[in-house]
Amino acid sequence: MSAIDSNSQNQRVTIDVQLERTRWSDHLAEETKAGLSDEPPWIPPVWFYDEIGSDLFDQITRLPEYYPTSAERQILGDHACEIARITGAEHLIELGSGTSEKTSLLLDALGENGLRRFIPFDCSEEILRSASGSIAAERPEIEVHAVVGDFHEHLDALPMEGMTLLAFLGSTIGNFEPDQRKRFLAEVGTVLGSHDWLLLGTDLVKSQDRLTAAYDDAQGVTARFNLNSLDVMNAELGADFERDGFDHMAVWNQSESRVEMHLVALRDHRVTLGALDGLTLELAGGEHIRTEISTKFTREQVTTELNGAGLEVVRSFTDDNEDFLVSLARPAQNRITQR
Ligand code: AVJ
Repeated sequence: MSAIDSNSQNQRVTIDVQLERTRWSDHLAEETKAGLSDEPPWIPPVWFYDEIGSDLFDQITRLPEYYPTSAERQILGDHACEIARITGAEHLIELGSGTSEKTSLLLDALGENGLRRFIPFDCSEEILRSASGSIAAERPEIEVHAVVGDFHEHLDALPMEGMTLLAFLGSTIGNFEPDQRKRFLAEVGTVLGSHDWLLLGTDLVKSQDRLTAAYDDAQGVTARFNLNSLDVMNAELGADFERDGFDHMAVWNQSESRVEMHLVALRDHRVTLGALDGLTLELAGGEHIRTEISTKFTREQVTTELNGAGLEVVRSFTDDNEDFLVSLARPAQNRITQR
């Protein structure tokens, strides 16, 4: 299952493939089929991120309405050194790493405190290859061991032999349903040893106006990002969605404390998805497909959920506006340790 190879130009890069492309595509097809057969229908957010979608997301992170990225960057800029000092991490794992520039803030600070290895973990082998190559080139002192995997499944495949800081930033955890989040955090609690740490980024609850504006910007970038998922499914799943027959919508779901992105059918649709065994989706005008959930937390909620996973919060950091929270947690020291 696990194939390790090394980049011929750079012996300090290894790519460990836990997730084979065909198995991942099968998994996504299954999940999408289940979602579209649900009432109301939904799709997993993975369909946002083809090349066009990743570029649109990058534009989103620079929109005036979309505060999470700049808030988290401010927090890491202010506190990365302290995080490095407290954790003394030799290894940094970044989950869902993408190509994040925020990683550099951590790598800089940890690099001065003895970091030896960077382990980016992502479901996309392409993204990992390019990110690993450039990080290895910029930082000759660090070994890069990339892992291609699914964070709902392959956390136990992470190499955990040095003192490790596991970073899960960007409030990506907000995309998980509560039960998925619970399982995920429990798994993190299990893989971390007594000297390891979790650094978790979570977006905080704030006024509904600001929350919905962050997901429905004036320039319409988020709308294009949302609608792009239809083009991606057309290409990847042999579907025939008519993109101009849908409208973007951002909804605040108060009872679940989350912003949801929806696509609203502007007319009746009958969509066939060739790669999902020819599944047909019938939508009447006005019906919605939910494309993403983005959960917003209170500090108390984050602490409670981490504690529930056997983790204790040692420090937490917020930006000047208190829009975003970065929590530094470790296995509760009264817990019977497993390693
Ligand atoms: C990358 C999942 C954290 O939920 O805010 C941005 C994605 N969606 N605008 C988020 C996103 C719409 C983002 N995450």
